[in-house]
Amino acid sequence: MESDRIFQFQDEKGNLVVNIPEKAEAAYGMYTWPCAVVLAQYIWHKRKHLLINKHVLELGAGTALPSVVAAKAGNVASLTLADDTHQPRSIENCRISCAANSIDVCGLKLNFVDRKPCIKVEGLRWGEVNPTFFYGQLKGLLPYPDVILGSDCFFDENIYEKILFTVSHLLEGKMSKIGPHEDKPYFLCTYQVRNANSSIGDLLHLWNLNCAEIDLHSFGGDGHDIASSGMPGNHEIRMLKISLKD
Ligand SMILES: C[S@@+](CC[C@H](N)C(=O)[O-])C[C@H]1O[C@@H](n2cnc3c(N)ncnc32)[C@H](O)[C@@H]1O
Repeated sequence: MESDRIFQFQDEKGNLVVNIPEKAEAAYGMYTWPCAVVLAQYIWHKRKHLLINKHVLELGAGTALPSVVAAKAGNVASLTLADDTHQPRSIENCRISCAANSIDVCGLKLNFVDRKPCIKVEGLRWGEVNPTFFYGQLKGLLPYPDVILGSDCFFDENIYEKILFTVSHLLEGKMSKIGPHEDKPYFLCTYQVRNANSSIGDLLHLWNLNCAEIDLHSFGGDGHDIASSGMPGNHEIRMLKISLKD
């Protein structure tokens, strides 16, 4: 069964209506998780500066609400929506969400030159070296991201290290390309507290990363009904900014 979920972001300076098609199926990438609306609200709240002229990549995007808000309101230089290479239907969902919101996706592989901003959909499995990313970045055809987005990617302890491996690799790649006065790349993620005993603290250390918590109240992410969606409801959501240690 398919249905459309409507999100209405608004403040005193504007409004944005986003339509996300969802499917009632067991796979994680088929519907929008409560974390997504919190991250999307952050992007909406900071749309005037956060992502302007930045290369942005969303990991585990699924229905891709944060990316849709970034594409519509963020003035990005480029945006890549990525999901698990082994779950083509989740990757297809990224495309469906773009189409539902009149966002053109670049058809050509590895082409970031012709159109600005260029929006792409790719497979990227955490913990693995993805040939498209590896080759594209090596050849300078696919940008290393300035900002990586991830909503509800830390849903299972077994994949924590895989995500952090991928994030660390991408951040290291970008760091090797920037000058001393340019902004450091970072990973913005929201996660749902499902098990108070599980933590990524040791893994952050292992992968040379540190993190700062972002206060949800500072951007209107602490409500129960963000963007008139009924989400995140009573779920406990937290937000982190993760970057490489100095
Ligand atoms: C809980 S869902 C979150 C989806 C979306 N970000 C949201 O918040 O609505 C987790 C997402 O991670 C993707 N995923 C799961 N395992 C993955 C892996 N090993 N590599 C890359 N993506 C993965 C799933 O396909 C799914 O889209």
